[in-house]
Amino acid sequence: MRLLAIETSCDETAAAVLDNGTLLSNIVYSQLKLHQPFGGVVPEIASRAHLQTVIPTIQKALAEAGIQKDDVEAIAVTFGPGLVGSLLVGLNVAKAMAYALNIPLIGVNHLEGHIFANRLDHPDLEPPAMVLLVSGGHTILLLLEDWGRYRVLGQTIDDAAGEAFDKVAKMLTLGYPGGPIIDKLAREGNPEFYRFPRAWLDDKSYNFSFSGLKTAVLNYLKSQKKEFIREHLTDICASFQAAVTDVLLEKTVRAANEFEVSKIALTGGVARNSYIRAQFEKRANQEGLQLFVPSPAYCTDNAAMIGAAGQFYLEAGQHADFSLDAVPNLGLNTRPA
Ligand code: KG4
Ligand code: ZN
Repeated sequence: MRLLAIETSCDETAAAVLDNGTLLSNIVYSQLKLHQPFGGVVPEIASRAHLQTVIPTIQKALAEAGIQKDDVEAIAVTFGPGLVGSLLVGLNVAKAMAYALNIPLIGVNHLEGHIFANRLDHPDLEPPAMVLLVSGGHTILLLLEDWGRYRVLGQTIDDAAGEAFDKVAKMLTLGYPGGPIIDKLAREGNPEFYRFPRAWLDDKSYNFSFSGLKTAVLNYLKSQKKEFIREHLTDICASFQAAVTDVLLEKTVRAANEFEVSKIALTGGVARNSYIRAQFEKRANQEGLQLFVPSPAYCTDNAAMIGAAGQFYLEAGQHADFSLDAVPNLGLNTRPA
């Protein structure tokens, strides 16, 4: 069964082809350069860019998979959460193709896509597992009870982890997106240079908060001389990154222990972070937990992960109908009607 997957929820136009779950192609057209001058994603620019690139991206994915559009037997598409104007572009193309080719349409929750990303590299990942989804828009700790069954234990009450990276990078005038830049600079810095606050919230909470940390960094920067900041830029990045990592790591490990699961899975753009990956690896080894992390290309937004989730629902016979609408604030446990 050849499945075409389409993802346009934010600023990446992406298409992938899977054959019975085996990935044949995975194309991502990044709009990064269009948004960089604005220091963040501009929704209208994103929708228009999707409109221009979505068909060429699909054509490229089909060509790389060595198939024609008529060979596609099912279509999976992200219907939320995300920017409404962006979602509508991919959704409309997917519907038109499914209608014209008379094939099943599968609506995929973007967050579920991120969870399924781990399955692309680790088909052996069997639930239950504790999943930490950390991206630019979300920070969610969830128990993967089974594929398709999630128990959300906590999430951010303010900024997402990736958002914190991006905002702190902006304060340091490092550019956008901040995550990869801070990651790189922090490799040369001392994570114990300055102790930024860790927001544990209350003892039992699995929620996260990063806005206090962001303010603490801002106040710290205001209190220091420009030369000092320049001289210790890598140390400041490393110290901020350590504060984010500590909270993510402690809460995830505590949840794994409380719910007695032996597996931890990271996913989302922030899971590309080299320090986070290394710290989780180290701690997982100490605790006897098995750690799963997708390869970097499957962490950030892509269509392969949407295809992996789509394949699951295709096999389960859960198809969407043509009334499927974009849902910008779609929650994790919502399936299309
Ligand atoms: O998953 P993603 O591509 O999009 C969303 O669904 O949000 O994640 C993008 C986020 C951005 O905030 C970006 O700064 C962050 O992931 N990111 C990183 C790294 N690479 C990307 N954050 C920390 N370290 C990285 N290496
Ligand atoms: Zn995402």
